[in-house]
Order: sequence, then C-alpha cells, then structure tokens
Amino acid sequence: MAIDPLALFSDAAIPMELLRERAYNLRWATLPPDVIALTAADPDFAVATPIRQALSDYVAGGVFSYGPAEGLPEFRRACASATRIRKGFSCDPEQILAVDSAAAGMMHVARLALQPGDEAIIFDPVDFLFKASVEAAGATVKLLPVDPDTGALDLQALQRLVTPRTRLLGVCNPHNPVGRVLTRAELQVLGDFAVSHNLWILNDEIWSDIVYDRSTFVSLPSLSLAIAARTFTIHGFSKTFGLAGLRIGFVIAPDAEQFERLITVAHARTTMTGASTLSQIAATAAYTDCWPWADAFVDHLRNQRDMAHARLTAIPGVTCLLPQGTYVLFPSVRALERSAEEIVQILLDQGRVAVVPGAARWFGPGAEGRIRIVFSTSRQLLTTGLDRAAAVLGRPWSRSAS
Ligand SMILES: Cc1ncc(COP(=O)(O)O)c(C=O)c1O
Repeated sequence: MAIDPLALFSDAAIPMELLRERAYNLRWATLPPDVIALTAADPDFAVATPIRQALSDYVAGGVFSYGPAEGLPEFRRACASATRIRKGFSCDPEQILAVDSAAAGMMHVARLALQPGDEAIIFDPVDFLFKASVEAAGATVKLLPVDPDTGALDLQALQRLVTPRTRLLGVCNPHNPVGRVLTRAELQVLGDFAVSHNLWILNDEIWSDIVYDRSTFVSLPSLSLAIAARTFTIHGFSKTFGLAGLRIGFVIAPDAEQFERLITVAHARTTMTGASTLSQIAATAAYTDCWPWADAFVDHLRNQRDMAHARLTAIPGVTCLLPQGTYVLFPSVRALERSAEEIVQILLDQGRVAVVPGAARWFGPGAEGRIRIVFSTSRQLLTTGLDRAAAVLGRPWSRSAS
C-alpha cells in the first residue's frame, strides 16, 4: 500500500511533548521550550507502526534472556537481505555483527585495525566519530580534504598522506556533513588505494538509505573482491528509522576470519558489549516491514531539502551545496564576517533556533566557516526555523562592525 508522505510527515505528526521529554544530544529535551532544534541528525517523527508493533509483541512475551553474541539470526538475515536488495552488495548473514550503535561499530573496527602509534586517513570535514574512533584506538588521523563548496574529494592528497604507519582509510558515503553521494569512480580510487597499501577500510554507509536519487549510490565493497576483502561496512538505524535511543547498528566483516577478530575486539562473546535483543527486534521490523515508510520519508525530505536550500541560499552571503543524500545542509556563513560559533550563538539568542557550528570538534578543521542544519522535521517547524534564521542573518549587523 502506498504511503502518503504528506499525511505521515505532517506538522500534526510531530510528537512535540515526547520530543521535549526524550530527544537529547543537543535536541529538544536540552533546549529552552521556545527554541527550534535543527541540531543533531535525528528525525522528529515517531517511528513506523510495524516497529512499535514488533516491540510491543516481543515485550508482551515477557522473556528477556541473553541473545546470541553475534546478533539474533533474524536480525542478521534481515541485514544481509537489505544490504543485497537495497545496496547491491551480497554478503552472508554470518559476516554480520550486531552492535549497540553505528558509533560502537566504528570504534570496534578502529580497534581491530589500529595499534597505538598507527595512522588513519579520514575525510575533513566529516562526522567527529571517525576521529574519535581512531583516537580511541590510540592512533592519529591524517586529513583528506573534502571541499564543502563542491563536495569534491582531494584524491591527489592520498599519496601525500600515506606513510608506513597508515593502516586504515575512513570513508563516509553518503557524506555527513556535506551531503554528497560519492561516485563510483571516486570509490574505485579510494578502494584501489586501500588495497594497494594494505589498508583496512572503515566504510560508513549509515546514510545510504537517505539518497535522493537512489541509482547514484554505490556500496564500496560491491566494486571488487579485492576491495571487499579490506572493507568493514557500518550501518545503523538512527538516521532512517529514528531508533537512535535504542543504540543499534551492524558491521559487515569482510570474511569469517575478520569476523572473528571483530567479535573478539568488541568483547561481544564475554557479554561485556552487545546489542540489546529488543533493539534488534525493532531493527529487524524496520528492515523487514518499513521500506515503504522509509521511502515516503525520503520523499518528504526531498521537499524539505529543496525548500531549505532555496531559503538559505537567498540570504545574502550564504552559499550551500544541494545535498544528494543525508538530511543535513552545510552552508557557508563565512561572508557574514562572524565565526561559525558566533553565528550559532546569535541564531540561538536572537532567532531562538539551534544549529550545529562547523567547529573542528564536530567535523574537523575543514568545517570552519559553516553551520550544519538538520531538516528531518515537519514543513512548519523547518519554515519557522528558517524564517527566524533568515531574519537574523539577513540583518546588516552581519556585515558591519561588531
Ligand atoms: C556518518 C555517521 N556515522 C555514524 C553515526 C552514528 O550513528 P549511531 O546513532 O548509530 O551511533 C552518525 C550519526 O550522526 C553519522 O552521521
């Protein structure tokens, strides 16, 4: 049955009281009530009905025993099947490890690939979790520039950045915060480079279901067997299905041997870590029964993106790439003659709208002069947030003396 995005993702569908109670991580529950949160990348909508139904059915059974360390068989099967059907990459359920978030999966892979003193090449800017994972493993990052104006990767820099200590290459596709979907040609260069230097690839595809032209997405390990043999792919359920609070994701290991290393480094068999069975039940329902919902969500997001992009770029001095994937915009505010941190503070104080600064601590030094705006909310909330931002940023203060 077709789902109408206008009804499902309408203004009335926003559960504002619950968001104010439950949405943390820079969002509604952490902000004064008159502030509109366009901050952390997390949908404002309640999750799809089949997920809620699966959770309540499971809870009604009343048994919450230990699950398998690798993950529930139905969860691993659903992940392998979605990866094959939606991403064009065939893997065996046995290669899939359930993890308690994409973030945790990234850390496990970094710890598998890196020893203290090693180096990893990651994009700049990119989500802070890449750097945090590498540093948690005691290694250091080398930054591969991504031009936020065009989304272009400086692939020439790879040769300059690689050293005898390099062990890992981080790839974020689609790219947060620039919103680009990497081309097959770019992925081929990255993959071949990793193979030729014996690097592991930390391939984060958590955003791969939020792509506005699905035919443009290519899953890196689908490119060749040699690339697949070096690639650990990360997926999560926070962005598409709104399950951030359930902390659930999965890692696809290249083969049985690397799966063993991964589950060992994750300490999953000791039960010191592991994904909650309830979270896996929710995620299995998402991948089994909620694709029509997810596709309708992307239709809603496409409209949101187009409106927000047009509104932002109409503000004098603001430029922004149109995202091909993700639900974040990453406009340059450099021409407004204030730092991104100052602009974020002014937007909060005067506009009562919260966004994330393009600060090194969130995205790396390459994010400077930018702000990140999330648009996974309703049309009305986004319009109000952008009206407020435009009113503040369009004022002459921004181009005159402080
Ligand atoms: C690129 C990227 N990877 C990983 C994550 C973390 O997702 P999770 O909530 O599953 O830990 C995020 C969340 O913002 C992200 O944008």
